[in-house]
Amino acid sequence: MEGQNRKDGIEMSGVITPEQSLGEIVGKYPLLSGFFEKNGIDYCCGGKETLREAAAEHNIDENNLIKQLEKELERLDEFQADEITWETRPASELVDYIVARHHGYIKQNLPDSEAHLRKILQVHSEVNPNEMMGDERAIVRLPKLLTAFLEMKESISKHLKEEEDEVFPAIKNDAVDESLKRKILKLQEEHEELGETLEKIKQLATDFVLPEWACPTFAATYRLLSGFQADIHKHIHLENNILFPKLI
Ligand SMILES: [Fe+2]
Ligand SMILES: [Fe+2]
Repeated sequence: MEGQNRKDGIEMSGVITPEQSLGEIVGKYPLLSGFFEKNGIDYCCGGKETLREAAAEHNIDENNLIKQLEKELERLDEFQADEITWETRPASELVDYIVARHHGYIKQNLPDSEAHLRKILQVHSEVNPNEMMGDERAIVRLPKLLTAFLEMKESISKHLKEEEDEVFPAIKNDAVDESLKRKILKLQEEHEELGETLEKIKQLATDFVLPEWACPTFAATYRLLSGFQADIHKHIHLENNILFPKLI
């Protein structure tokens, strides 16, 4: 596919350099934090370390490590299709795209976000709320933020399952009947509810504006959550405004 090796209009090669610090890389590409976690590379407390230093410490060839990271970025950004073209494409192709691109993103982001949220909650749980100053109050909201996130995680997981197990296969088999149309209306109602929960999460995370004292894990958590929000907006747009009107 044209543009497959590009991200945000930039050639993938050279996006990541050995001189960049781990904190800088995860700041720019929050989803790569999952890669570092999986490979035991500390980008949080060791966030100032350059990629070259981390590669040497872990006995990995630095060029090989960069290739793996860029491959991971390409995998996450595999589909670069222009959404406008979906209006003229068959519904079954759009279904495949939504599942691969957006459902795939959610399934990766949710466990990453949850792990990050739990980590910052644990790290900051020992701060006494009575001794907090100014934007340290963001810490007080963390338990509520985690609760709202877990509620959202549960409802969105059910929602994706309904789409992938029932509605999308029927669309691909051209089996759209009255009962399926009712299910589609229910999915649209769930999109509304999801939008409200995401708004609540955004408010609890003060619009994802980082407190001054935020550590790299805190910053990565907010970026994961705001990235999730941005992606879900595109996802719901494709379903509500392009896919479902083709069917009902
Ligand atoms: Fe979906
Ligand atoms: Fe949906």
